[in-house]
Amino acid sequence: MDATNSPVRVAVVGMGNVGATFAYALLLRGVAAEIVLIDVNHAKAEGEAMDLSHTEPFAYPTRIWAGDYRDCATAAITVVTAGAAQHPGETRLDLVKRNAAIFAEIIPEVAKQSPNGIILIATNPVDVLTYLSLKWSGLPAKRVFGSGTILDTARFRHLLSEYFDVDPHSVHANIIGEHGDSEVPVWSLANIAGMRLPDFARATGVPHDQFQMDEIFKQTRDAAYNIIQRKGATYYAVAAGLMRIVEAILRDQHTILSVSSLVSDYYGLNDLCLSLPTIVSRCGIEKVLHLDLNDGELNGLKNSAEVLKKTISSINLS
Ligand SMILES: NC(=O)c1ccc[n+]([C@@H]2O[C@H](COP(=O)([O-])OP(=O)(O)OC[C@H]3O[C@@H](n4cnc5c(N)ncnc54)[C@H](O)[C@@H]3O)[C@@H](O)[C@H]2O)c1
Repeated sequence: MDATNSPVRVAVVGMGNVGATFAYALLLRGVAAEIVLIDVNHAKAEGEAMDLSHTEPFAYPTRIWAGDYRDCATAAITVVTAGAAQHPGETRLDLVKRNAAIFAEIIPEVAKQSPNGIILIATNPVDVLTYLSLKWSGLPAKRVFGSGTILDTARFRHLLSEYFDVDPHSVHANIIGEHGDSEVPVWSLANIAGMRLPDFARATGVPHDQFQMDEIFKQTRDAAYNIIQRKGATYYAVAAGLMRIVEAILRDQHTILSVSSLVSDYYGLNDLCLSLPTIVSRCGIEKVLHLDLNDGELNGLKNSAEVLKKTISSINLS
C-alpha cells in the first residue's frame, strides 16, 4: 500500500510496562489509526493487543494487533521501549551492555522495514541507545531521537508548580543533558509568566531560596530511584511523555520538548545525543534551540556530555 494513503500507523517495540502503558495512552488520545505491538514474547503482545482493543468502544476506532517487524513498513513512527529496566539501586548507565545487545538486533530491522519512518527511543540509557540507534539505523538525525529528559522536565515542572501553587502548564523550566544522574536544571531561564522564579516568589509572597530549589532538583533527579524502590518500575509519566512526542509529530505541532537528539556544534559539543529544548514537528527534529546558559549550567552540560561519551566509547560499535 502507498504509505501516503495509509492510515496513520504507530509501531511499538517492547510490550512491557512502558510500551503497554504508552499504547494505552496513545489509544485514549486517538492520534493513531493503527497501533502494532511487537515483542520477543509474542504472546504478551497478543494479550496486550486483546486487552487494549476492548478499550476502543470507550475511545476512538483504532486497529490494534500483535505483529512483527514487517508491520513497521508503513509506520510513521516506531517507538522502541524493549529491553531490561533498572533494578532497585541500579543506574540507567548500568543497563547499557544488556540493552545495546538487544538494540543491535532491533534497530537495523526497524530501519530496513521503515526507511522513511521516525524511530523514537525510550529504553535506558536513552541517550546512549539513541546515539547507537542513529548509527545502526543509517537514518537521518532528524528522524532518530529519544524521549530524553522529557520525563525529568515534567517532574521538575510538577514539583515547581506544587511549590509555587500554580498550574504546571504555567511553569517554564527545563532539565537538559543526560536523562540520568548528571542531568542539569536550567535555573537561569526558568520562569512563570515570564517572571524569573525569585521575582515570581516575591510578587506572590512565596518564600524562595536556592536551598529549597536545590531540594526540588534533587527530588526531580532521584524520582526514578524513589519510585522503583516502592513499586518496582516507572511508566505512567514516561508513557504520557511518549504520547505527547508522538502527538507533536503526527499533528505537526512544532512543540518544544526536551528530547534527546544528535548534538552538533553546541557550545563545542559534537557527536553524541543528549537533551535540549527542541522544536518537534512532522519531520521529527525541526530545530535544537541554543540556550544562553550561565557558566554553572554550561559546566553541568559539558559534564553530562563527558559521562555519555565515556559510556559510548565503552561499547563496541561494530
Ligand atoms: N526514557 C524514560 O524516561 C524511561 C522511563 C521509564 C523506563 N524506561 C526504560 O524503558 C525500558 C522498558 O522498561 P519496562 O518497565 O517497560 O520494562 P519491562 O521489562 O516491563 O518490558 C520490557 C519488554 O521488552 C521486551 N523485550 C526484551 N527484549 C526484546 C527484543 N529483543 N525484542 C522485542 N522485545 C524485547 C520484553 O519481552 C518486555 O516485554 C527500560 O530500559 C526502562 O529503563 C525509560
